[in-house]
Amino acid sequence: MASKTFDLDMIKEVYAKLDSRVKAARKQVGKPLTLAEKILYTHLWDGEATEAFTRGKSYVDFAPDRVAMQDATAQMALLQFMQAGKKKVAVPSTAHADHLILAKQGAAADLQESINKNNEVFNFLSSVCNKYGIGFWKPGAGIIHQVVLENYAFPGGMMIGTDSHTVNAGGLGMVAIGVGGADAVDVMAGMAWELKFPKLIGVKLTGEMNGWTSAKDVILKVAGILTVKGGTGAIVEYFGDGAKSLSCTGKGTICNMGAEIGATTSTFGYDESMRRYLKATGRADVVELADEVADHLTGDPEVYANPEQYFDQVIEIDLSTLSPHLNGPFTPDLATPIAEMKEKAEKNGWPTKVEWGLIGSCTNSSYEDLSRAASIAQQAVDKGLITKAEFGINPGSEQVRFTAERDGLLKSFNDLNATIFTNACGPCIGQWDRKGADEEKVNTIVHSFNRNFKKRADGNPNTNAFVTSPEMVAALAIAGDLGFNPITDTLTNKDGEQVKLDPPVGMELPEKGFDVEDNGYQAPAEDGSGIEVTVNPDSDRLQLLSPFKAWDGNNITGAKLLIKAYGKCTTDHISMAGPWLRYRGHLDNISNNLLIGATNAFNMESNKVVNQLSGEINDVPGAARAYKAAGVPTVVVGDHNYGEGSSREHAAMEPRHLGVRAVIVKSFARIHETNLKKQGMLGLTFANEADYDLIKEDDTFNFIDLKDFAPDTQLTLEVVHNDGSKDLIKLNHTYNAQQIAWFKAGSALNLIAAEAKG
Ligand code: F3S
Repeated sequence: MASKTFDLDMIKEVYAKLDSRVKAARKQVGKPLTLAEKILYTHLWDGEATEAFTRGKSYVDFAPDRVAMQDATAQMALLQFMQAGKKKVAVPSTAHADHLILAKQGAAADLQESINKNNEVFNFLSSVCNKYGIGFWKPGAGIIHQVVLENYAFPGGMMIGTDSHTVNAGGLGMVAIGVGGADAVDVMAGMAWELKFPKLIGVKLTGEMNGWTSAKDVILKVAGILTVKGGTGAIVEYFGDGAKSLSCTGKGTICNMGAEIGATTSTFGYDESMRRYLKATGRADVVELADEVADHLTGDPEVYANPEQYFDQVIEIDLSTLSPHLNGPFTPDLATPIAEMKEKAEKNGWPTKVEWGLIGSCTNSSYEDLSRAASIAQQAVDKGLITKAEFGINPGSEQVRFTAERDGLLKSFNDLNATIFTNACGPCIGQWDRKGADEEKVNTIVHSFNRNFKKRADGNPNTNAFVTSPEMVAALAIAGDLGFNPITDTLTNKDGEQVKLDPPVGMELPEKGFDVEDNGYQAPAEDGSGIEVTVNPDSDRLQLLSPFKAWDGNNITGAKLLIKAYGKCTTDHISMAGPWLRYRGHLDNISNNLLIGATNAFNMESNKVVNQLSGEINDVPGAARAYKAAGVPTVVVGDHNYGEGSSREHAAMEPRHLGVRAVIVKSFARIHETNLKKQGMLGLTFANEADYDLIKEDDTFNFIDLKDFAPDTQLTLEVVHNDGSKDLIKLNHTYNAQQIAWFKAGSALNLIAAEAKG
C-alpha cells in the first residue's frame, strides 16, 4: 500500500488552519459558504481572507497543497524547474508515466515496446524526480488520476496538475485543477498560483441509482444539459442525498468529465463513501484527521437547503429516474438515453455495428468499474453468448489490476477474448495501434473514456466513438449493436436461445481489500544533491535548458518584424500540437513549429514571411533563426485575444528562444500574456488599436524608453518604415514591479534562481 507519510504531515497542516480560515472567509463573504468557497478561501496565498472576491472577476493568488504531472507535460515543466535553483520541490509533487504507452497486443509486449521507444524520457523523469524530491510512478504503474485518487487526494485539499483531468480528485473532496507546465513550475518552486475566482454551479442529486444506471450517467446527463462550454470558469459542486449514495470512485468519474463541460473543476463534500475509500486504500489516518474537521469539508447546511441563493446556477438530477446514456459521436455532450439510441442512430446514419468496446481511462478504470463490467462479461460466458465486438481493457492502476486479477475479474474479460492492455492511458490518448485504422473506414466503437473527438482514439476521422459506462460498454460490445438496450432487449446465444442480461452487480471496493506486489512507485532520494540528471546532448527529444539572457539595461533598438499575425492566433497557431508533441521536452526542436499556424497579415498565408535580412520569403522559424544568428532582435505583432487556447508554456518559450523580444497585440488571452512575462519577454498592447494598421512588413522598431519601464506607465515604440518615415506608437502593459523584475532578470525562473542563491 502506497500511503505516503509526508502527505500526512501536509494534511495535518492544512487541517490545522481550517477553522480560523473558514471563519475569516465566512466573515468576509458575509454568508454561509459552499464547499468550493471553503477550499478556495482556506488556500489563499496570503493566509486568512481579508476581503471577499468577486466570482468570475477577481484574480486571486492561491497556495495549492500538491502538484501532479503526467509524462508528456512533465518534461518541459521539470526542465524548467531544474533552472529554479531549488534543492527540492516546495510542495509534495508526483510525476506519472502513463501517456506515452501503447495499446496494441497486450500489456506485457506493449509496455516493453513503449519503454524501448521512450526510455530516454522515462529515465530523465525518473532521475529528475529522484533528485528534486518528486515521487515517480513508473510506466505501467497506472493512470495519473487513478493513482492520485488512490494515494494522494484528500478532502478539503487543493492541487494542480499538468493535465486537464486532474479534476478527477474532486471525487475525494478536493479542488483539483488542470494547469499548464509553467503553473506547476511556479508552485513547485514555491511561488503563488493565480486563478480567476470561479463562479459556482450547484448540482443537487436526489434519489438513488438502480439497475443499469451508473455514476457515469450523471455526468453524461450534465454534459447534455450544460454542453461543452457550460461549465467554463465555474466549479461544479455536487450535493444532496443522491451524492452521498455514490461511491468515491463514482464521484471521481463525475468530476473527471467535468473537464468536458469546460468546468474549472468539480467537487463533492466529505462523506461515508470517502471514508470507506480512504480506509480501503490504506489511509485510515487521513480519515481520523478529516473526521475532526468534517464540518469544514463540506458546504454549510444553509447552502444546500437553499442552493439558489448561494450558487450562480443550480441543476437538479433525480438518480432514481436517470437512465443510462451514450454520448457522441465526436462530442461528449451529445447525450442520448439508451432507449432512444436505436432510432437516433438510424436517423443520423451512425453505423450501428459496434466493432470495439474499450474499458479504461482515468474516467472509468477503478475496481468498481471493472467489477460491474466483469459481471456483464461473466453473464455472457454463463449464458452462452459470444461477444460480437472486440474488447480492450486498461486497468487504472497496478493496484486495481492486481486486485482485479486476484478476484477473477480479469478472467471474466479474458473468457470473452478481451485484450488486457497496460495500466495506462493507451487508446484514450491516441496510443492505440488499431489494426486497419489507417484505412479510415466509417465505423463505431463504444468506450468508457471521457473524450470522443474525431481521431482521438485510433487516428481515424471516421470512427464514431460513443462514451458510456463500463458496464454498458460490455453489454454493447457483446451485442455488437449500438441500438441494443440491455434493459429491454434480448440476445441470441449459441444454442439459439433468447437470453437477457441482468443488471450489473459490482463491488464498490474489493471484499478482501486491495493488494499489489509492486505498485510501480519510486520514492525520491532523501538527499538528491548528489544525483546527476543526464540528458544526451544528441537527443532529439530532450534538451537541458539554458537560462535566458538577462536584460542588458539598454533600450531594444533595430528590432525587425518577424510576423504580423492576422485574426485568430491561438496557442495552437503559435506552437502546434499533433506530431510536435514528440518534442515537448526539446525546446530547440519544438521551436521549429513557432507560429507556423499563424496567418501573415501581408499575404494572408501561413508560415511565409519576409526575411528582411535577405529579402527572401522564409518560413517563420527559419526567418527567426536567421535574425537570431545575425544578432537582430525581433518583434511579433498580433490581433485580438492573441494566445487564447491552452496554457502551454511552449508558446512563450519558443519565441523567447528564437530571439523575439516583444509581442505587441491588440489584446491578449490572459494566461499567455502571463506566460510571456514569466519567460522574460515584453507582452504589450497597442494603446490605440488602430496603430496595428501602421505596422508594415519591412519595419524596424526602437523601444525608446524601455529604460524607464515601470508599472502603470506606457512605453513608446518608434516604428521606422522602409522609406525612412517614422511613427511613434504608445504601448500599454500590465506588468507589476515583480513582473518587471522578471523581465530584467531574463525570466521569472532566473529571478527565483538568483534568490535561491541568496
Ligand atoms: Fe490519460 Fe485519457 Fe485520462 S489521456 S489522463 S486516460 S483523459
